[in-house]
Amino acid sequence: MNDMLKTTPDFTTEEAQALLKQHFGVDGSLQPLDSERDQNFKVNTGEGRCYILKIVNGAEPEIESDFQTALLKHAGENAGDLPVPHLQPTLSGANLAATTRRGMVHRLRLVTWVPGTPLAQSDRSDGALHSLGRMLGRFDASLKGFMHPGALRDLDWDIRNAGRSAGRLAHVADLQDRALLQRFLDRFDERVAPRLPMLRSAVIHNDANDWNVLIDEDDRDRISGIIDFGDALYAPVIAEVAIAAAYAGLDHPDPIGAAAAIANGYHAEYPLLEEEVDLLFDLIAMRLVTSVTISASRRAHTADNPYLAISERPAWALLRKLDAMNPRFATAILRKACGFETVAGAHAVASWIGENRKSLLPLLDRPAATYPAALVPYGDPTHPMTVSSADGRPHDARSVWEEHCRTTGVELGIGPWGEARTVYSGEMFVSRLIEETRRTRHLGLDLFMAAGTKVHTPLAATVASVEIEKDPLGYGCLIALRHEPDGCPPFLTLWGHLAHEAVGRLKAGDRLEAGALVGEMGAPEENGGWAPHLHLQISTDTSLAATDILGVGEERYLDVWAELFPDASTFAGIAREFYDQSGRPHEEIIRRRKELLLPNLSISYEKPIKFVRGEGVWLIDDRGRAYLDCFNNVCHIGHAHPAVVEALARQAGTLNTNTRYLHDNIVAYAERLTATMPKELAVAAFANSGSEANSLALRLMRAHTGCENAVVLDWAYHGTTQELIDLSAYKFRRKGGKGQKPHVHVAAVPDSYHAPAAWPLEEHGKRFAENVAELIAAMRGEAPGFFLAESIPSVAGQVFLPDGYLKEVYRMVREAGGVCIADEVQVGFGRVGSHWWAFETQGVVPDIVTMGKPIGDGHPLAAVVTTREIAASFDNGMEYFNTFGGNPVSCAVGLAVLDVIEGEDLRRNALDIGNHLLTAFRTMQERYEVIGDVRGLGLFLGIELVSDRRTRAPATEIARAVANGARQRGVLMGTEGPHDNVLKMRPPMIFSKRDADHLIAVLEETFGAVLAQAG
Ligand SMILES: Cc1ncc(COP(=O)(O)O)c(C=O)c1O
Repeated sequence: MNDMLKTTPDFTTEEAQALLKQHFGVDGSLQPLDSERDQNFKVNTGEGRCYILKIVNGAEPEIESDFQTALLKHAGENAGDLPVPHLQPTLSGANLAATTRRGMVHRLRLVTWVPGTPLAQSDRSDGALHSLGRMLGRFDASLKGFMHPGALRDLDWDIRNAGRSAGRLAHVADLQDRALLQRFLDRFDERVAPRLPMLRSAVIHNDANDWNVLIDEDDRDRISGIIDFGDALYAPVIAEVAIAAAYAGLDHPDPIGAAAAIANGYHAEYPLLEEEVDLLFDLIAMRLVTSVTISASRRAHTADNPYLAISERPAWALLRKLDAMNPRFATAILRKACGFETVAGAHAVASWIGENRKSLLPLLDRPAATYPAALVPYGDPTHPMTVSSADGRPHDARSVWEEHCRTTGVELGIGPWGEARTVYSGEMFVSRLIEETRRTRHLGLDLFMAAGTKVHTPLAATVASVEIEKDPLGYGCLIALRHEPDGCPPFLTLWGHLAHEAVGRLKAGDRLEAGALVGEMGAPEENGGWAPHLHLQISTDTSLAATDILGVGEERYLDVWAELFPDASTFAGIAREFYDQSGRPHEEIIRRRKELLLPNLSISYEKPIKFVRGEGVWLIDDRGRAYLDCFNNVCHIGHAHPAVVEALARQAGTLNTNTRYLHDNIVAYAERLTATMPKELAVAAFANSGSEANSLALRLMRAHTGCENAVVLDWAYHGTTQELIDLSAYKFRRKGGKGQKPHVHVAAVPDSYHAPAAWPLEEHGKRFAENVAELIAAMRGEAPGFFLAESIPSVAGQVFLPDGYLKEVYRMVREAGGVCIADEVQVGFGRVGSHWWAFETQGVVPDIVTMGKPIGDGHPLAAVVTTREIAASFDNGMEYFNTFGGNPVSCAVGLAVLDVIEGEDLRRNALDIGNHLLTAFRTMQERYEVIGDVRGLGLFLGIELVSDRRTRAPATEIARAVANGARQRGVLMGTEGPHDNVLKMRPPMIFSKRDADHLIAVLEETFGAVLAQAG
């Protein structure tokens, strides 16, 4: 290069003008331009045409001139529309001319002038840089397949030779500067150089510096051209982007953003590969390292040359900025700009957590979504809590929050991911990526509870690090865990602001099982100086050390941080509805219900709940609070069971018709349903509600017996049609009821708990049945048409029939000519665990069984199953047509429910968990006098509360207070029975031991609180 500088041509303008005329036949005025080693003139023909005449350095090897010429020719032929210089032929039609001076041959080349202003002199908007990327991409794409021996030259500016900078380090006087360069050189040697030979190479421009790139004067977001192919080279393709980015980043407030804009444009025209983008940050830095070391070495050999040093100062400034950055973050930004994941596996981690959220264990003592929660006001810069936190007065901040919790009943404060915050006032929050910018966006999830609150890992983990971070407004005790669940790329979780106790208890390498204690929320003295809370953060980049994980990030790169440090809410068990609230406010719904709907629709609870989502055993309200559903027995196998949803959607998307056409589903379902019953019950009919099923049962009964007389149990409910209300004492005896009809005969509820004390227990069945005998006798010769009863009376207060009762009653009714109908609308489908059907626990076989509620896991479906004889009686010529009953979609749903009950052995689960609950309830009974009776089978459970165990007087108010208290604590149950003093629980069949323990804990707490208040 130094030799070349000695042979720089020195023609006068007049001489050059003559040569131009002589070789190219062009007349024009010439204006000399700067050049390091050649001589360049701008030629203006005066006819609106301009050219560049280049007189090539005499020392330039012929092969290089030929290469440049071939390159320009190729570009002209393959991308004639690209705004790059295009070759003008000599008068003789050649691409180059030559002239000799002092025995040295100089080649002459004439190319078209590319108009525009150097990018270096513009404000380098994102648009312009994107446009530059595109232009370079198009240019390089046009060179695909182009090769020339001259492209294989040895240049210090070849990115592959960047390591040679080490040999020039000695020329850098400042030791700190030298150390900085050494750091980049070390990274280059270690992680870049070994990978470079594997990257794609091609002929590239290799010097898209901001003087060689021109911008459109009328549209400064557009590149108008690229010039100067003097450094073109066969090199790794990514070097093109790296070089352009290195220069675009000079004096740029956001050099990585500038590089990202270029990479994004380039990638759109010439798709980059992940492994190329992964080296981009280092290659940008190494271009600068090459530049500053070449400058330093030249300064050592020649007098100061301002052209050589033109980019030295900003290059150093940029190197310092790059040195201060975390290369992983810069690379994440560059990857994102090219449409790659910020780190490989980031999407998979987020999806895995979403898909497996149900199997994650609670991070707090109970699932986080069950606590009444509210946003912590750090998003409001003027809030006293924010102000005191930013001022370093954590105790004041804590008081503000505690007071808020006291007055509102909030138990959990949530500081959301992505929130813009002003609390981060320290020096450590100044951005290292973007000049004069602070990091303001919170990248963790904050959970505020009292100091000492224990936090557990929802997922098995290995401890990655445990340390105390001392910075003010830092993390205090900080723990990083590494998770490697099956089927998910590994990821880290960061647990900040903990109490120091964890330091002695945990160490790197320790294994934590899911649910294990991680630590306790620290007091301000230990947690970095904050109101007590946990900062929980996920990092999909597992190579980051805990203290490198960015807890607060730049707003501009929020989309990058979202992948690198995704919101930990799902991991922590916070429902998405906490953040995304939509739909009408409660008051409006209540008002519109009153205006638009029958006024006698009732609403549960004084403060009604608006549920917006159901998932398994959970119901989630419009504010994201999750309630454990122990009450609603309709969603039998859990809310929104995926198998049911899938079956429903698939069949609904295929066909839904009615029973007048042939379809497989109804037959398959009838086969499966009758297979669960005693063989006598062999004929099925389908309807849409329990009421419809019971009404149909009455039609069957009438057709078979010709009789209307009914024997029903007191306080029973069988449905909403008038004829069923007439059979439901629960309705006809209460408000708005019209009293007992003459054909209806009401037997006492065979409730052992309230049986006369004189009755021996083993005789309860027989004694209660005597009441039915009396009713039949009172019919005075008229036959009973039927006996209708729930196999476990539910509205009457979860009453378990005494042994032998149904056997006795069925015998009497049948002897008198009636049929026996079992209403299994509430209690069927394996709820009792021991059997499919609750009537089986009494050792009887009804003549007709009606089913509803749980049958479709929430889908409106109902069934009647009867004997062949009764079915034959019903077949009297009148068609049974039910528009929706037995449609293919409903039957598909019914089949899916049976599949799940059988496939997941849910009857066994109901029995096991039911027994676990009964044991716990009975233990409670020993401690709480108010619990008079505990009864249940499987997951059909009742706790009867009494104010006096001897008289068994109902404790109605306490029962109501317990149900309400449980609701306040996020557990749903009901009260039932004539005195509303029986706590009624019918949790979904998938109820787990953990769910049961949650219910037990809440009941314990609620009983404690209610009884303490009752005195
Ligand atoms: C025992 C019993 N039978 C019948 C019905 C009526 O069912 P549906 O509301 O589906 O018409 C109910 C409803 O609560 C019920 O509990």
